[in-house]
Amino acid sequence: MITIEDNLKEAIVGESTARKKYELFAEKATEENHPEIAHLFKAVALAEGFHIKNHIKALSKITNSQVDLNQIFKLNEQEIKQQVSNTRNNLIQAIAGETFEFKKMYKGFIKNAKKEHTYLAEFTFNLARRAEKVHSKLYIKYLKQLDNNESFDPVEIFVCKICGNVELGEAPNVCPNCEHDKQFFIKV
Ligand SMILES: [Fe+2]
Ligand SMILES: [Fe+2]
Repeated sequence: MITIEDNLKEAIVGESTARKKYELFAEKATEENHPEIAHLFKAVALAEGFHIKNHIKALSKITNSQVDLNQIFKLNEQEIKQQVSNTRNNLIQAIAGETFEFKKMYKGFIKNAKKEHTYLAEFTFNLARRAEKVHSKLYIKYLKQLDNNESFDPVEIFVCKICGNVELGEAPNVCPNCEHDKQFFIKV
């Protein structure tokens, strides 16, 4: 039987893989002279790190033990490297990943957490799910801009360290995703 602990572990694996992928996509975008796209990849990679942190915290509390990332799995960097393509394809891949996470993966996990009355897991899945929706929208926006040959003006990017929400331009007074205030946003 799949438990909520399995769901949390799967989410941690997914987020860790996404984080590594986006770091590599950022390097590729820099190489291809798309500094603003690289900037977004870096910001979202950071955001996934906050999801990992939240999920690990929930898993530790639920299992009443100190869980750390290395115990759960070892990232296969070679395999992830093979998935790096050009920046346009990387954006498409990122959109697919984020969309899968918010439409399928987290949706299912939230349902399970509700069934098991595991509020801690439900909470961290919900925060992540809402942030993935934002990530996917931003990637879509950047892909459109790239395809339309529009220029990318330098923009400041802020990440909410509570929920991994990503905001362009300036940090909002209150995070629309987790309702924490501006001070929890960090500039990437
Ligand atoms: Fe994401
Ligand atoms: Fe937030």
